[in-house]
Amino acid sequence: MPRVIHTVAEWRALRASHRAAGLTVGFVPTMGALHAGHASLFHAARRDCAVVLASVFVNPTQFDEPHDFEKYPRTLASDTALMGDAGVDVIFAPSVAEMYPNGTRYTVTESELSRELCGAHRPGHFSGMLTVVLKLLQMADADRAYFGEKDYQQLELVRGLGTAFFLPTEIVGCPTIRDPDGLALSSRNARLSSTERALAPQFHHALVTAPTPDDARAQLAAAGFAVDYIEDRPHRRIGAVRLGPTRLIDNVPR
Ligand code: PAJ
Repeated sequence: MPRVIHTVAEWRALRASHRAAGLTVGFVPTMGALHAGHASLFHAARRDCAVVLASVFVNPTQFDEPHDFEKYPRTLASDTALMGDAGVDVIFAPSVAEMYPNGTRYTVTESELSRELCGAHRPGHFSGMLTVVLKLLQMADADRAYFGEKDYQQLELVRGLGTAFFLPTEIVGCPTIRDPDGLALSSRNARLSSTERALAPQFHHALVTAPTPDDARAQLAAAGFAVDYIEDRPHRRIGAVRLGPTRLIDNVPR
C-alpha cells in the first residue's frame, strides 16, 4: 500500500533521500474521486520514474461555485486502494492550511488563454488552478509531472506556467481515457441521471463528426444539451456543455 503523508516537510525529507540515491520522481496531482483516467497517469509515471508521488487535494480556490466544492466527492479510502494497484508509492494529502500557509495573498494570474473558452464561463477557476499547481510542483520537486489531455486548456496553461517560471519539472501530457461509448471519464459523470448518461456520448460524437463548431452546437442544442462553447483551435476542437446541473468538457484532435 502507498505511504500517506500530509505535510510538505514529510515529503521534503523523503525527496532528499531519493535525491541522494539518484532516484527519479514522477508526480501526478489530482483532486481524488479517482477513475481509470487518473490511473492512466499513475501508470505513465510508474513506467517512466523510480518513485511515483500522487497528490489528493480538493483545491478550494479553483471552484467558482461553492456548491460544486462542497459536493465534490471525497473518497480517500477507495482512492488509496486504486493508487496502490496503479503502483503509486507516496500519497500527499494535505489540509487547506498546509497548502495555503499565508492564505490567498499570493496567486498566479494568466492574462490571455485563461480568459477564453472555460475561463470565460468560470471566473477565477484558472487562477486558482495555476496557483495550486505552482505550489504542488514546487513542493514535489519532481523530474516529471503528468496531466491529462482531457483538460486540454489546463494542460496548455500548466505548460505555459512551466515556461514562465522556469520550472525544472517536465510536463507530460497523457491521452484522454473514455468509456467505450466515447464519453470521457470524469468524476462528475457520476452526477448524471440515467437519461443524461444515455445522452452524454453525443457530445464526443458531435465534436468528432460535425463539419463545423456551429453544426456541433446546433446538433447538441437540438439533443437537449446547454452548450457553453464549442470552438476550433489549432489542431483541436474543444467544448463544454451542460446536462442539467452537470458540466462536461471534452476535446478532440482535428
Ligand atoms: P482532477 O480533475 O482530479 O484531474 C487530475 C488529472 O487527471 C488531470 O491532469 C486531468 O486532466 C486528468 N484526467 C481526468 N480525467 C481524465 C481522463 N478521462 N483521461 C485522462 N486524464 C484524465 O485536474 C485537476 O484534478 C486539478 O485541476 C489539479 C490539476 C489537480 C489541480 O488542483
